[in-house]
Amino acid sequence: MIGVVLKRVVCSPQVNRVLSCTSHRDFHDKGYIMGEWVGAKSGKTFDVTNPATDQVLAKVPDMDEHDAEASIQAAQTAFLSWRHTTGKERSKLMRKWYDVIIKRKDEMAKLITLENGKPLAESLGEIIYSSDYVEFYSEEARRIHGEILSSPAKSKEMMFVREPIGVVAMLVPWNFPTAMIARKVSAALAAGCTCTIKPSEDTPLSTILLAATAEEAGIPLGVINVITSSRQHAAGVGAKFCTSHEVRGISFTGSTGVGNLLYKQCASTTKRLALELGGNAPFIVFDSADLDNAVVGAMASKFRNGGQTCVATNRILIQDKVYDVFISKLKDAISKLVVGDGLDPKTNIGPLINMAQFHKVAAMVDDAKEKGAKVLVGGKHHSLGRTYYEPTLLVDIKQDMLCYQQEIFGPVAMTMKFKTEEEAIRIANNTRSGLASYFYSNDFSQIRRVSHALEYGMVGINEGIISAAEAPFGGVKESGLGREGSKHGLDEYCNIKYFCIGGLN
Ligand code: SIN
Repeated sequence: MIGVVLKRVVCSPQVNRVLSCTSHRDFHDKGYIMGEWVGAKSGKTFDVTNPATDQVLAKVPDMDEHDAEASIQAAQTAFLSWRHTTGKERSKLMRKWYDVIIKRKDEMAKLITLENGKPLAESLGEIIYSSDYVEFYSEEARRIHGEILSSPAKSKEMMFVREPIGVVAMLVPWNFPTAMIARKVSAALAAGCTCTIKPSEDTPLSTILLAATAEEAGIPLGVINVITSSRQHAAGVGAKFCTSHEVRGISFTGSTGVGNLLYKQCASTTKRLALELGGNAPFIVFDSADLDNAVVGAMASKFRNGGQTCVATNRILIQDKVYDVFISKLKDAISKLVVGDGLDPKTNIGPLINMAQFHKVAAMVDDAKEKGAKVLVGGKHHSLGRTYYEPTLLVDIKQDMLCYQQEIFGPVAMTMKFKTEEEAIRIANNTRSGLASYFYSNDFSQIRRVSHALEYGMVGINEGIISAAEAPFGGVKESGLGREGSKHGLDEYCNIKYFCIGGLN
């Protein structure tokens, strides 16, 4: 018996009003284990709130390691049959899943805005981005091939096949509560793996809804499972996933600190581990750059989701000859940003996800101000209160400032001046992180030199938005392990099994 089975659940009045969900379908606010919508075994729940209004959207199960174990067993049971489906069968089911997501995209987008706070247009973009992964991997499912090898001995035939690794546990963040799951789950399912997902305590409803779309598409019971937990139980659930012998892989997107802890915990069971951790992206504007394009790129990479992305521009480095003009254009663009509730179509910047994030951003700006940075725009709590922070432009940032050393994860653009290409590369690489980086230049030789010199997993060249299902997303150094998206994203979920047939004439 897996927890308490609750098939039909009525959503909270606010969610109900905004999604009109009960008028056309069930809204689930439970965990999802073996195809059942379930409460926590303990019966406990926690509140999910809208950061724009502080209103409680729903109460979801506060699941612990016992529920996590049930979800692992469900995924393990489902794996026994899912692993034997053909790539074509999986492909067809996943294509149906894609169709359901597209059909329900508006409702899904609204739910992201309600629990995450990002503007509705961005939420819709996130749903399309999510569906791209499902569509892409529905196509890749049919192309997971082995190889016949060139044998060194006439009496031996050698080959390998790719097999699914098994049950994968996924720990996903609040900043892209649907896309980060879609990108993991669709690659895993295409490879023949099954999964159990723990969403962030801030944004579990989007994950639950994504699972409901998979159910509607006919993804078999137990192939996808969802465990919702409060902050209090998150560590226990994570530890259960890492130490379980049945879980053969962990895929995590989040902070470097938690990623390192999971890395340690996984050692006892020698698990496959994919980590997409924090960044500290440089954005370099060289003298030859098209400055208007560079401002568009800086705004997109900095202020997407209010600056709360791992690939967000963190340190903007501007070459001395174009410094004044670029700063003036950037200042104009930032001054025009409209802060508010993401449901308002005029809003460009929503609230930060929670008070902890707000305090972190405010403390980093205060630290920079104390150490000599100047504020050209914003720099304080927004008059809307709560977790709203003013879009901010800081100039003259220095190496000893926290915002130089760590990603700020908020709507704060930070700039510094440089003289030479060597200096820019030295500053850009002067971090333990290595996720995304960006630069703008119209000098082709420089483009070639700098793109190779940057110690990052991803480089945007004259482009501020680089993510796509077709592209390998991931970092080097302390930004993580493995890649998501592209055909290489499948490697995290496949084992290579080698056959050697001997005794041949
Ligand atoms: C992230 O912030 O972790 C992901 C951003 C993206 O996929 O573009």
